[in-house]
Amino acid sequence: MFAFPGVRCHISLAFAKECVLIVLGIESSCDETAAAVVAADGSVLADVVSSQVALHAPYGGVVPELAARCHMDNIVPVIEQALAALPNGLAGIDGVAVTQGPGLVGALLVGVQAAKSIAFARSLPIVGVNHLIGHLLAIFLQRKPANPSPVPSFPFIALLVSGGHTALYEVRSAFDIEQLGQTRDDAAGEAFDKAAKLLGLGYPGGPRVDRLAGSGDPSRVVLPRPLAGRKQLEFSFSGLKTALAQHVTAQTSPLTEPQIADICAAFQHNVVSVLVDKALAACERRGVRRLVVTGGVAANRGLRARAASACASAQVELFFPEFASCTDNAAMIAYAGAQRLLAGENDGLGLSVFSRSPILGVSAEQAAMRRYKSSRLPRV
Ligand code: KG4
Ligand code: ZN
Repeated sequence: MFAFPGVRCHISLAFAKECVLIVLGIESSCDETAAAVVAADGSVLADVVSSQVALHAPYGGVVPELAARCHMDNIVPVIEQALAALPNGLAGIDGVAVTQGPGLVGALLVGVQAAKSIAFARSLPIVGVNHLIGHLLAIFLQRKPANPSPVPSFPFIALLVSGGHTALYEVRSAFDIEQLGQTRDDAAGEAFDKAAKLLGLGYPGGPRVDRLAGSGDPSRVVLPRPLAGRKQLEFSFSGLKTALAQHVTAQTSPLTEPQIADICAAFQHNVVSVLVDKALAACERRGVRRLVVTGGVAANRGLRARAASACASAQVELFFPEFASCTDNAAMIAYAGAQRLLAGENDGLGLSVFSRSPILGVSAEQAAMRRYKSSRLPRV
């Protein structure tokens, strides 16, 4: 069911009979306008995503003002399309969940205002959801009633790899999540996008680098693996991107397609090996034998293959959300919000947005690092 171009929509009424709490989720933090209807058990009843990729492609990245305006045009039809999955539409909704941040403030405000209007008009409870928690809980979404996806039990280690974020977490419950380490500079998806731009592959670059890497030989190009090693759970990708830029500018003649494929293969190999090594180091350190890889970059074939073989040898159980649950969507927001609503929480109409996420939990390592950093600040 496609109402207008660029809209992806999955609907399954087969779940509706067993649903208890039904939540409308709204996501508008970046370049996807999305709405979904999800039951508190993770059953996805409707999931509509309107992508703005074509709008931003000529600029090589997301233009915040254009994103906000496009959300304004699309938010109502997208929500209407999601609600059309319920026989009684809006009357079948028990609560509203909306992405509160992190993201582009102008874009977030569109979703939050739409959510508040619905909550006010129907006297429904409303909760704000941290987009990152949405990604971390996306593994619990069930999209195929006849063939449910395996889900991990708590606790699990999560590697969140998207265009805006790259971090490791220990997820002990929907409410007890601790960040173990994150990138110091670029996110993995951002690094893929910048590499693609340098190679003239267009935007978004991740899937294009992934495709070309499949036919390249990673050993033909030498690139660094910044912050490699299992000692620290922090990442850094900007040095790798700079090395790639230097490699490209050092060429005396235009790169051929096989040469570009080799560069993609080397770049992807280095990003993926660092991600998988650190994710397994986190599992080992926390004594947790379950790993969830989530976020847009979790679609990467190299990452999937390397994580599968490394987890098999380390005897760690590996989980990937379905592709539609990896990239930005509102079903994950609805599910995370449903857990808050089930706990009786309600943010009310005072709900506001935030552009940067507070760190989720504080690990002993990070607390020690913070003490160390503050001890080195000049005293006045
Ligand atoms: O999670 P997501 O949809 O949005 C954010 O929250 O950022 O992730 C989008 C990112 C983009 O940077 C895109 O290039 C990257 O995920 N991506 C990939 C692949 N598919 C999407 N990166 C590498 N390989 C892929 N196959
Ligand atoms: Zn995201």
